[in-house]
Amino acid sequence: METKDLFALVHPAIAVTVVFPLIGIVIHFAWQTRQRRLQPSGESKSKIPPTVGRDHVQLGKRLTGAVVGVCLLGLAFPTVSQALQNQTFTKQPWEALFLVLMFAATIASLVFLYQAHSRLWRVVFTVLTSLGVLVIGFQDSLLGRQQPWIYRRDFEWQVSHFYYGIVVTVLMIISLAIVQEIYQDRSNRWRLAHICLNSIALLLFIGQGMTGTRDLLEIPLSWQEPYVYSCDFVKKTCPTPTPPPGQP
Ligand code: HEM
Ligand code: HEM
Repeated sequence: METKDLFALVHPAIAVTVVFPLIGIVIHFAWQTRQRRLQPSGESKSKIPPTVGRDHVQLGKRLTGAVVGVCLLGLAFPTVSQALQNQTFTKQPWEALFLVLMFAATIASLVFLYQAHSRLWRVVFTVLTSLGVLVIGFQDSLLGRQQPWIYRRDFEWQVSHFYYGIVVTVLMIISLAIVQEIYQDRSNRWRLAHICLNSIALLLFIGQGMTGTRDLLEIPLSWQEPYVYSCDFVKKTCPTPTPPPGQP
């Protein structure tokens, strides 16, 4: 396999081997946390250990990091491969520098969000991390490119791996930001908001599994690119291959 194809597999491979198993464990603990909390107070000792809430949050925090990481990887691959192809590092160094700084600033904002305690700083770093992902995702529009580098599937945004990915990443960032609110709020409104938002996130994660595997089917290996990209994607036809020499 060519090196470029190998790099293209890094994002889906990490999503499948690291992120999705983590989602399963986080949801298992989420369900147990809820079951334990809603258990009638008179009932005899619960079989669910009291640590499930803590385990859910600990792994949830890691999940946020993993999802932001895998999202940035998904965006980094087309960005870097297109930058190399278009010689952006030498021809438009300012554009390359801007992109490198955006990736670095987004990661730094997430690190600060993990450490922030006051509500103000948590809001600031939530906005900055989410903005970073959005700016990198919409770099084509911001930089006025004719040929898009990021495949957003705007013509079919309802089933776009890009839009699902951006929304679910922002939902994970918000979950990390509101941990304190969930614990401090006696009316359970933040808890309810968390459950609603993350039920949507769960559906989007399933969508990511489906749209990601579809995209893997659609993207050709690099040696197949010249042939596949000469196909007409609207009419769904490809040029007839030339017959081998000696055949009519
Ligand atoms: C797909 C992902 C997730 C789902 C479906 C989910 C769902 C849930 C559910 C159902 C509960 C129990 C609510 C109850 O007591 O009624 C819960 C609690 C909680 N979740 Fe999540 N969650 C997810 C991810 C996260 C993440 C990423 C974080 C933080 C980084 C997080 C932080 C919390 C906190 C702080 C609680 C309260 C735990 C406690 O009571 O001890 N969750 N979540
Ligand atoms: C948490 C889960 C995931 C998130 C947040 C995520 C996010 C992203 C993002 C933002 C992109 C760049 C936009 C695009 O090209 O569509 C991308 C690309 C991609 N993702 Fe995912 N993804 C996830 C899971 C998966 C899975 C499970 C697969 C496949 C099994 C997958 C396969 C791909 C492929 C093939 C690309 C295209 C890369 C390219 O442009 O060459 N993703 N992903």
